[in-house]
Amino acid sequence: MIKVAMIGFGGIAGAHRYAYWYYQRAGLPVRLVAAADVDPSKFTTITKINIALRGEIVDELPFNTYTDWREMLEKEQPDLVDICLPTAFHKAVAIEAMERGFHVMCEKPMADTFADCCEMVQVAEKTGRQLMIAQCVRFQPEYEYLQQAVVDGRYGKVLAATFGRYSPFPTWNSTWRIHAGRSGGCLPELNIHDIDVIQAIFGQPQTVSCDLQSKVYPYDFADTVFSYPELDVHIKSAWYDKDYLFNACYEVEFENGVLSHERGEVRFTDRDGTVCPITVEDADGVMGEIRYMVNMLESGAENHRNPPTASAETIYALEKLYESADAGGKSLLYREML
Ligand SMILES: NC(=O)c1ccc[n+]([C@@H]2O[C@H](COP(=O)([O-])OP(=O)(O)OC[C@H]3O[C@@H](n4cnc5c(N)ncnc54)[C@H](O)[C@@H]3O)[C@@H](O)[C@H]2O)c1
Repeated sequence: MIKVAMIGFGGIAGAHRYAYWYYQRAGLPVRLVAAADVDPSKFTTITKINIALRGEIVDELPFNTYTDWREMLEKEQPDLVDICLPTAFHKAVAIEAMERGFHVMCEKPMADTFADCCEMVQVAEKTGRQLMIAQCVRFQPEYEYLQQAVVDGRYGKVLAATFGRYSPFPTWNSTWRIHAGRSGGCLPELNIHDIDVIQAIFGQPQTVSCDLQSKVYPYDFADTVFSYPELDVHIKSAWYDKDYLFNACYEVEFENGVLSHERGEVRFTDRDGTVCPITVEDADGVMGEIRYMVNMLESGAENHRNPPTASAETIYALEKLYESADAGGKSLLYREML
């Protein structure tokens, strides 16, 4: 049985606790035993965020609550610590938890800098603890389907690709108050999901460029390009007003037609214009990543699908994109040695 303790019980934590409760009821060997938040009102409310949380939780399974996460870890001795804190805390809390002997799942972005991410990876290696960053879109069925289609070539070679992520501005969130500068803008909050998936599917780009703007809110618009030898992948994102309905989408042109995804619908349109709806599993990425983590800890298997080095790479990419944006959107070599 994997005992889980969560740290930070605000917005995205609602998706995590739903997944633990869902799997606990479904018979997976996992149990949410405790949660810590400096604000105890978070234990009795569900914060509304930019994405729809799955299902209403009508009969909550009991768990212990704390306002001091160190006290919680001491008393509960969980197997897995799930960190849903604002990004500024990720590195320090993840490192302390691993050094105290706990496996860690931590929300994205992994940390504020690539150097911090490398330190986290080193601590995971040194302590032998699992560290997985909650890059949930890797586990979202619509994107898993795309990845499979690229890998097995069922629609031919990829000719062009555009990914989009458009969201209501995050008014619920303390991240904005805690972070100075650009953190909280649409690059680390929105684009990062597509960057992660694109790197999982297509690997490291040769060059990157980024047009980052502040139209209505700070850093609320990003238009980036990941260039590969024979392919440009476009990634767009924006924060819109609070009543906008969240939309994540992609359009990928293959030799034999276009695979598209928008608001949960996946379809393939062939060269003759025939539209074929694609049915994917009715689950979200947070549920998928939590199921994966629990199964991995139970079986002792290696983390092949979402290693922390891959998440660190998303932060390396963000640093390159900021550099490009500062240089007026200039195309930059991604790595000196490829
Ligand atoms: N995977 C996703 O799609 C997704 C979506 C939203 C947010 N996030 C990420 O999740 C993280 C949290 O974002 P959020 O929107 O849930 O923020 P939030 O502000 O709603 O929640 C953070 C919680 O941490 C608590 N907290 C702060 N300091 C604490 C401390 N020292 N000890 C215990 N609790 C403390 C706050 O009281 C708050 O309840 C951020 O890194 C964000 O980027 C990911």
